[in-house]
Amino acid sequence: MDTIFSGIQPSGSLTIGNYLGALRNFVDLQKNYDCYFCIVDEHAITVPQDRLKLRNNIRSLAALYLAAGINPEKSTLFIQSEVSAHAELGWMLQCVAYTGELERMTQFKDKSAGKDAVTAGLLTYPPLMAADILLYSTNLVPVGDDQKQHIELTRDIAERFNRKYNDIFTLPEAHIPKVGARVMSLQNPTKKMSKSDKNQKATIFLLDDENKIEKKIKSAVTDSQGTIEFDKENRPGISNLLTIYSSFSGETIDAIVEKYVGRGYGDFKQDLAEVVINALSPLQKRYYDLIESDRLDEVLDLGADKAEVKANKMLKKAKKAMGLGRVHKK
Ligand code: TYM
Repeated sequence: MDTIFSGIQPSGSLTIGNYLGALRNFVDLQKNYDCYFCIVDEHAITVPQDRLKLRNNIRSLAALYLAAGINPEKSTLFIQSEVSAHAELGWMLQCVAYTGELERMTQFKDKSAGKDAVTAGLLTYPPLMAADILLYSTNLVPVGDDQKQHIELTRDIAERFNRKYNDIFTLPEAHIPKVGARVMSLQNPTKKMSKSDKNQKATIFLLDDENKIEKKIKSAVTDSQGTIEFDKENRPGISNLLTIYSSFSGETIDAIVEKYVGRGYGDFKQDLAEVVINALSPLQKRYYDLIESDRLDEVLDLGADKAEVKANKMLKKAKKAMGLGRVHKK
């Protein structure tokens, strides 16, 4: 059975972008793959975090994984910092990656633009992500569009390691959904919807209540044409809303456009709010049941134990390939 690895940062509340681009697809894929899903807290500290908020976000993300439908009997769910092999191989791969290729990453350029100082970790984030993936001999990495470049770099780093040291790493492929791979901001539809957007109206969070969802959709930026049509280039606002509608309802964009011929944004937005609320409310209910339960800790303890066994085997091979430590007699 092929292996899947993916991770989400506990750097804030999850958005419907994270859900449609990643989390929801994990749930479908777990039927046919050996899956490892990770709360990548070591990635979150590449930018400043409040320690108590980070702790809460880690727990909250674990509950969201389960509430979305990750089944811990099928998939391994764990916290990155609880499996030390990630940080260890991350360091080793920093010694394989080149600073030039790290400086070329779009995410690094975006996050460091205009800042006087950024952490070294923000630059060396991709080798840690490569370690996450390569430790599990991962075949497929389900992610949204924005992570494609990091997966390509992971392949480059793995190929270089295999050539230079020993052929131990599997080269992973990105798995990007056809619809919902890049959900855009509701306030600036040429920009990606992001957990860390300062404008709260730009983002629908998975745990937003009905009122908030409705208000945010109603104030979403469209254009002055007033018709419900899909044209990503020239009409990014309405096209983004159509994508969200289609992703949550399962209807094709063509079918939705057909339904709204002769009707305006008001009607469309009202219905879209209902579609989103109906899709999220069962997940929210499961989340609030789980968040205080002991089950969460049991799942995470078990997940860390399982992940550690597999990760340590690969770490040992990588250390041997690089000549670290001593040769063990037995
Ligand atoms: P993160 O935490 O930023 O996002 C988690 C997942 O959500 C997807 N995503 C989106 N998809 C569609 N539309 C959007 N607006 C949107 N915003 C985010 C992301 O593509 C991602 O799949 N570097 C990763 C975390 C990571 C990882 C890994 C992923 C660390 N190690 C190993 C895969 C494998 C990140 O920052 O994702």
